[in-house]
Amino acid sequence: MINFILIIAAYLLGSFPSALVIGKTFYQKDIRQYGSGNLGSTNAFRVLGKKGGTIVFILDVLKGGLAVLAAMYLGATIHPLIISMFALIGHIYPIFANFKGGKAVATSAGIILFYSPLLFITLFIIFVISLKIWKMVSLSSTIISIAAVLIVWFGHYDLTAKIMFTLFAAMIIIKHIPNYKRILNGTENKVSF
Ligand code: G3P
Repeated sequence: MINFILIIAAYLLGSFPSALVIGKTFYQKDIRQYGSGNLGSTNAFRVLGKKGGTIVFILDVLKGGLAVLAAMYLGATIHPLIISMFALIGHIYPIFANFKGGKAVATSAGIILFYSPLLFITLFIIFVISLKIWKMVSLSSTIISIAAVLIVWFGHYDLTAKIMFTLFAAMIIIKHIPNYKRILNGTENKVSF
């Protein structure tokens, strides 16, 4: 029963559309109408600016973080990453926003931050370096998704963690297909420093 409750709670938590709520409440903007149209923190930075983007990023990270912490400490009898995956599903297919959400990068980061802080730091460093070089959040997100899979499969993680991290990466990569099309035709958004 506890597993079922945690799964539903993780899905509902993940479903909270931070980018939509912050955009509409404080900026009177539906960010689905601007930028990439994605309900994620990258598009929130693009459309709402640094402050709005940071708030959305923190909220999206917290969704993953709270889901994995609840799974780890509230007595779940299945792997915490299986429960956390439902926060990602909620973020990508939010019940509170017509099932059209984000690409699960920040929410995955929240899961990793509390599940494996060392992995989080490693991926963060790789992300910053690749963003400095190529200036595309989508490409950097893809690179760290692949890096995470390689690190966990070659590292001391249990088999379920290896499989779940591979699934997370697959979900993120599939959600970035429109970005890959834009990268190939040279129209992908770039960040400036
Ligand atoms: O986290 C999503 C990011 O990798 C790409 O977002 O808005 O550029 O499609 P966006």
